[in-house]
Amino acid sequence: MVEPWINYFITIIVNLTMELKGTNFSLREWRTDDAELLQKHADNPNVYAFLMDRFPHPYTMGDAVSWVNLMLLQKPVVTFVIAVDDKLAGAIGLEFRDDIYSKAPLLGYWLGEEFWGRGIATEAVKLITNYAFSTLNIVRIQAAVLSNNHRSMRVLEKAGYINEGVLKNNIFKNGEVLDEWVYGMVKA
Ligand SMILES: CC(C)(COP(=O)(O)OP(=O)(O)OC[C@H]1O[C@@H](n2cnc3c(N)ncnc32)[C@H](O)[C@@H]1OP(=O)(O)O)[C@@H](O)C(=O)NCCC(=O)NCCS
Repeated sequence: MVEPWINYFITIIVNLTMELKGTNFSLREWRTDDAELLQKHADNPNVYAFLMDRFPHPYTMGDAVSWVNLMLLQKPVVTFVIAVDDKLAGAIGLEFRDDIYSKAPLLGYWLGEEFWGRGIATEAVKLITNYAFSTLNIVRIQAAVLSNNHRSMRVLEKAGYINEGVLKNNIFKNGEVLDEWVYGMVKA
């Protein structure tokens, strides 16, 4: 028989979730009920146009449910919901790599189109960067940007990332050959 106060303590621990506060949004952990808005905002050719082809397009409810289920298993939390009024508006996260790249994860992010132009992505990049360098055993964060994605280049530059080079013709996206702009931030 477990003492009632122990159950109470466990409930508090289980319900403690990670949240990073921005000015008009937060970065929070995933919830099952995020799937609906994820499908709505992610199912957009203007979002897909600047992401890897593995980002589903069209983005179905099944894709959304699978993604959220995967996100619920994260430990530690490295991919967050970008939430406006606590509702999913986009996502931002780090993708860890194996082998010699183990301390240099890749940064990725996207926002539903209706939320563009409010400075959310820039602040979100700053928040996750500070969080990652202060809590994870990493020394560098890298972001790869398609050469036609000037918005995202601006976001990274405003967040303090450095353009470290351009990989010519490294991308084939939507039938077009593009360059890849590599941005990096190293741990101070
Ligand atoms: C890239 C993205 C996350 C930006 O989000 P956002 O919240 O609108 O970004 P911010 O408001 O923080 O900053 C955007 C900046 O780009 C600038 N900008 C907007 N359109 C631009 C354009 N066509 N060319 C150059 N800069 C542009 C804005 O003026 C702003 O800079 P400023 O503050 O100096 O005025 C969003 O557009 C998105 O989700 N795009 C699709 C997915 C994607 O590209 N993900 C990134 C993959 S690397």
